[in-house]
Amino acid sequence: MSEDNGFEPRIVAFCCQFCAYAAADLAGSMRAQYPPNVRIVRLMCTGKVDPIFLMKAFEEGADGVFVAGCLEGNCHFLEGNIRAKKRVGYIKALLEEIGVGGERLEMFNMSSAEAPKFVAAVNEMTERIKKLGPSKVAKVS
Ligand code: FES
Repeated sequence: MSEDNGFEPRIVAFCCQFCAYAAADLAGSMRAQYPPNVRIVRLMCTGKVDPIFLMKAFEEGADGVFVAGCLEGNCHFLEGNIRAKKRVGYIKALLEEIGVGGERLEMFNMSSAEAPKFVAAVNEMTERIKKLGPSKVAKVS
């Protein structure tokens, strides 16, 4: 694995509006510092995350992707976050199998009050992807 000097990974975060999106908003209000390289996609629930969205994010140039949902047992749609966890696990295995690397995708759980947890997730993914280097997946057009 290479650490690319000056490489700023592009990270896409699929965030549930009830928890991670609110936590990101709170982090902003608290003026918490985190890398600016994350693009947030707001979802009604992580249960809406389709495996195609995850693969498409990589195809469109993301170096890393994470899904952030409510704490287990607290999903507003009962088991949306459990379904998302299964899909993330499935796509992680697929990314590993095709040589992209399963570590480029992760799932986090947090409450709306856990701004530091959101910041930690962004930092963790940024550091992890910096170590892995740029993704080789790119849209051919
Ligand atoms: Fe937040 Fe389902 S409502 S993960």
